Amino acid sequence: MKDVKVYLSEKEIKEKVAELGRKISEDYRGSDKNLLVIAVLKGSVIFLSDLIRNIDVDLAIDFMVISSYGRSTVSKGNVKIIKDLDINIHSYDLLIVEDILDSGYTLSKLIEILKVRNPKSLKICALLDKPDRRVVNVDLDYCGFTVPDEFIVGYGLDYDEKYRNLPYIGILEP
Ligand code: IMP
Ligand code: MG
Repeated sequence: MKDVKVYLSEKEIKEKVAELGRKISEDYRGSDKNLLVIAVLKGSVIFLSDLIRNIDVDLAIDFMVISSYGRSTVSKGNVKIIKDLDINIHSYDLLIVEDILDSGYTLSKLIEILKVRNPKSLKICALLDKPDRRVVNVDLDYCGFTVPDEFIVGYGLDYDEKYRNLPYIGILEP
């Protein structure tokens, strides 16, 4: 394992996730709301599982797998669905949950794909936002933390499929 410097502790993450859960619960309370939380595998899976346990309104969850080209290629805008949702979304208020918003290619493409299917509403929640790297604009409705332009691992985020199991969020030392 390479060295990882703690950037956000377990406690800081826990408090932020609870706060996000409270906000989302307030916004989606009421019989006219039909919340479906969608996560993109795999990076968001830890965040999703903690977040939904802090939301106290009825909700459903579903997952997508999408592929985008490697971080270093210019063709990263080319996003392909590997596994689609199981649920028909047109009667749902969608909340897309992402681990990190970086260039914005993945989320902007996903929003485009899902909007065509006419959900009742569509909002975005990202735990981390790395604005320095943005290429395509994406408006976040809920955001946990803004992070510097460094490689972030832990709490679901990987480097070469490793480090997802770290309970904190860290910066990978070069
Ligand atoms: P985007 O399409 O460039 O916004 O990238 C989004 C995806 O890239 C995220 O869902 C992550 O899976 C991955 N990613 C971006 N930055 C990092 C990072 O610093 N660490 C780990 N994964 C990252
Ligand atoms: Mg991801």
